[in-house]
Amino acid sequence: MFRNRHVIATLQVFVLFGSLMVIYLFYCAEDVRKFDSKIRQPPIKHNSNVFSWMPTCQQNMSAANFTDFHSYPDTVKDFLYYQHCRHFPLLLDLPDKCGGADESAEVFLLLIIKSTPENYDRREVLRKTWAKERLHKGVWIRRIFISGTTNSGFEKDRMNKLLELEQREYNDILQWDFRDTFFNLTLKQVLFLEWMERNCPNVRFLFNGDDDVFANTDNMVEYLQDLKDTNGSKHLFTGHLIENTKPVRDQNSKYFVPVQVQKSDLYLPYCGGGGFLLSGYTALVIYTMSHSIALHPIDDVYIGMCLAKAELSPTRHMGMMMEAENVQKGVAVAA
Ligand SMILES: *[C@@H]1O[C@H](CO)[C@@H](O)[C@H](O)[C@H]1NC(C)=O
Ligand SMILES: *[C@@H]1O[C@H](CO)[C@@H](O)[C@H](O)[C@H]1NC(C)=O
Ligand SMILES: *[C@@H]1O[C@H](CO)[C@@H](O)[C@H](O)[C@H]1NC(C)=O
Ligand SMILES: *[C@@H]1O[C@H](CO)[C@@H](O)[C@H](O)[C@H]1NC(C)=O
Repeated sequence: MFRNRHVIATLQVFVLFGSLMVIYLFYCAEDVRKFDSKIRQPPIKHNSNVFSWMPTCQQNMSAANFTDFHSYPDTVKDFLYYQHCRHFPLLLDLPDKCGGADESAEVFLLLIIKSTPENYDRREVLRKTWAKERLHKGVWIRRIFISGTTNSGFEKDRMNKLLELEQREYNDILQWDFRDTFFNLTLKQVLFLEWMERNCPNVRFLFNGDDDVFANTDNMVEYLQDLKDTNGSKHLFTGHLIENTKPVRDQNSKYFVPVQVQKSDLYLPYCGGGGFLLSGYTALVIYTMSHSIALHPIDDVYIGMCLAKAELSPTRHMGMMMEAENVQKGVAVAA
């Protein structure tokens, strides 16, 4: 047992210093392999929904018929080819995170943090700081990192293996087998909501954010406890409100969105994806709306579209500010 723990601890220290090559060499060392089968923990209580196989979603070749398609950046082409794909195998599950669907009302604030597999050091800081799982003012705060996969082949397997070790240690990662890229963040968000509906439907509130933000979660709990509705059964969606912006049509921008993706020249109001706070009720409404809205490459814009379809509004919370880069997803429309 001691040696196993030592292996895990050492791996993490190496990841922390970014020496991925060293981890690989270390991980493949003969004695580590021998212990690999023993580090497995006892099976978890609830049935896990981890699938090992699922038919792969086919590329939509017709997307390329559009006039300007061939001039688009590869990321946009890729988005269009796979925009319709919404189901991917779950690689790491957390069936007991909320104590099961029926008990999930016990979770007052669920922190959902988007993180790519290689961001181990960020997760490590968050676990010790604002995203620490704890009882605050008599209510539970729980944490989940949501992730896809990076690289391919051998490199991908190696990264997944590391994530699996991290999961054994912390039990706080949901991972699906899709490429964790900027334009797949909407997919990640929708996959999470689908998971939530099944595993944590009665969670009261959620904070949804990135792994590079700082969030004062103590204050959030106190803010939520002062609301009229403290059980999360009414609409709440608040954060850094962005209104009157239009899609970026400049192909050189990271946020370029062609007319093929969005015809309308105005984004509906949305809250910056760096961090927003919502009720469990609103999260499930967004998920329901997502069934009938094609995925949009920009995740927070997409959530704004889902809210609008449900005739719910995002609201501004002064306590939530984003850095400039995060706000520039759209071009401000001159008033
Ligand atoms: C669009 O692409 C598909 C598949 O590549 C092709 O079969 C179809 O004829 C194309 N449609 C038009 C209108 O060009
Ligand atoms: C494939 O792309 C075409 C053109 O954008 C679109 O009309 C069609 O609905 C897409 N098919 C699927 C399965 O999403
Ligand atoms: C999203 O993930 C799927 C599955 O891995 C991949 O085929 C697709 O290219 C990705 N899309 C983008 C825009 O990266
Ligand atoms: C939430 O509170 C409302 C009243 O504020 C109540 O009607 C409802 O039943 C409560 N829901 C749950 C799940 O406790």
